[in-house]
Amino acid sequence: MSGPYDLVVIGTGPGGYVCAIRASQLGMKVAVVEKRVSHGGTCLNVGCIPSKALLHASELFDEAGHGFAKMGIDVSPKLDLEKMMAFKAEGVKGNVDGIAYLMKKNKIDTYHGLGSIAAPAVVRVTPENGGEATDLETKSIVIATGSDVARLPGIDIDEKQVVSSTGALELQQVPKKLLVVGAGVIGLELGSVWRRLGAEVHVVEYLDRIVPGMDLEVATQFQKILIKQGFTFQLGAKVTGLERNGSLCTVTVEPAAGGEAQKIEADVVLVAIGRVPYTEGLGLEESGVAIDNRRRIVVDNHFQTNVKGIYAIGDVIAGPMLAHKAEDEGVAVAEILAGQSGHVNYGVIPGVIYTAPEVATVGKTEEELKEAGIEYKAGKFPFLANGRAKVNRTTEGFVKVLADANTDRVLGVHMIGPHVGELIAEAAVIMEFGGSAEDLARTCHAHPTLTEAVKEAALAVDKRPIHM
Ligand code: FAD
Ligand code: NAI
Repeated sequence: MSGPYDLVVIGTGPGGYVCAIRASQLGMKVAVVEKRVSHGGTCLNVGCIPSKALLHASELFDEAGHGFAKMGIDVSPKLDLEKMMAFKAEGVKGNVDGIAYLMKKNKIDTYHGLGSIAAPAVVRVTPENGGEATDLETKSIVIATGSDVARLPGIDIDEKQVVSSTGALELQQVPKKLLVVGAGVIGLELGSVWRRLGAEVHVVEYLDRIVPGMDLEVATQFQKILIKQGFTFQLGAKVTGLERNGSLCTVTVEPAAGGEAQKIEADVVLVAIGRVPYTEGLGLEESGVAIDNRRRIVVDNHFQTNVKGIYAIGDVIAGPMLAHKAEDEGVAVAEILAGQSGHVNYGVIPGVIYTAPEVATVGKTEEELKEAGIEYKAGKFPFLANGRAKVNRTTEGFVKVLADANTDRVLGVHMIGPHVGELIAEAAVIMEFGGSAEDLARTCHAHPTLTEAVKEAALAVDKRPIHM
């Protein structure tokens, strides 16, 4: 038996490693258990970080081929995919090494192997190579085991021809045709990567719209822009079968509402229909930890499960499957364990899609406000009227601010346009402080910046934008 620890965290993704660091800062003796060789979880190893590296590199490749000439830069880019993949791998290594450093710096003991709950106060670490298990004695356990790819029944993911996001980040050559199942965040980000590198990209989506849950006006504009970029969409359709014929896949697609099936050929099929909580091998049943009908661990508002001393955070519990949501829960649970009043404001969790242009959103959508019967005013400002966007020729998109009709409090901000993934932070701060559209409008914004579009949208709430 090793320990005793105040806290053992199972899983070192953004939820787990951040929780461990915050707990250590608060004076706890902490250990983490990770089954991967490196820390950082899905996000750093096969998610946020590698996808952003490829999005960045492929965006520059596309820009060099299509945008540079207009600025008087005459180049003909040539793709070296192997080098681009090495660029991505280097970025991942830099990030995961950084977490290993932070574990040491914060004096956190690290164990590699499969973590399971042997008893409410004991975590068992079983090395993946089958070596002898180690038991860790601890006052509290935080489960931060994240999520895994959701699969389509009867369709085997081999990560070569039929891939999840993990395989789509590792393709050895640009597919001639990529069929994406699911017009969500992964499908559109990774579809963008391969589209820019030369693939024909066809997206099959079950619903009659893309990016469900996002503001509909933003989603509609987003789809139009993606179509201009060469995407094709088949909405209200589902994949019901797949056959491999040598180097090609033949995919059967049917209307979601039923009807005649159609066969589509593709070199690579990306299954991106969501993710499911990962609880395999944790010993949840044996320890009596309750899960819901979507296999998410059930927690109370202190992140505690039905078993005293066992907590859970991140993708393995309910809520948006986002790295920053997992991180904030990690901080909150560490503070709660230290007797403080850590909490997460689920009303203000930004969401960003890192395509070009980017999509960013925080707070309530117009559809949600209408459904809740909340009276609101909307102010919208297009990037076409923003000086910086105009001079950079990145004028696609707009910023929309939604404010309470009576109090002017900002209830939601939705954007599509250049660098909006950065602009959204301002909206999150104003909402966190309970600020109004007038507060945003009266804040001095540097000129010429894209941020002025946020200020103008806030002015537009009161029908007084200057540049429109
Ligand atoms: P994870 O990051 O999944 O970490 C869980 C860790 O637990 C893993 O390392 C796993 O190996 C380990 N583990 C599991 N079971 C055990 C066990 N029994 N014992 C020991 N270790 C175990 N989110 C964003 O906010 N922004 C993005 O840009 C973004 N991009 C993404 C791109 C892709 C392609 C994908 C797939 C996801 C992306 N996400 C993004 C989502 C983000 O990765 C997750 O929301 C986030 O990683 C969740 O963090 P977590 O700590 O809950 O779990
Ligand atoms: P998603 O939930 O974003 O999208 C899945 C899409 O697939 C939905 O539009 C859904 O309607 C559709 N779908 C479901 N079943 C289908 C079927 N049988 N046929 C056709 N379409 C079907 O899930 P995605 O894109 O897989 O991403 C998983 C998670 O990863 C998300 O929760 C997301 O938050 C996170 N992520 C976040 C990123 C970011 O923040 N930039 C980037 C990538 C992933």
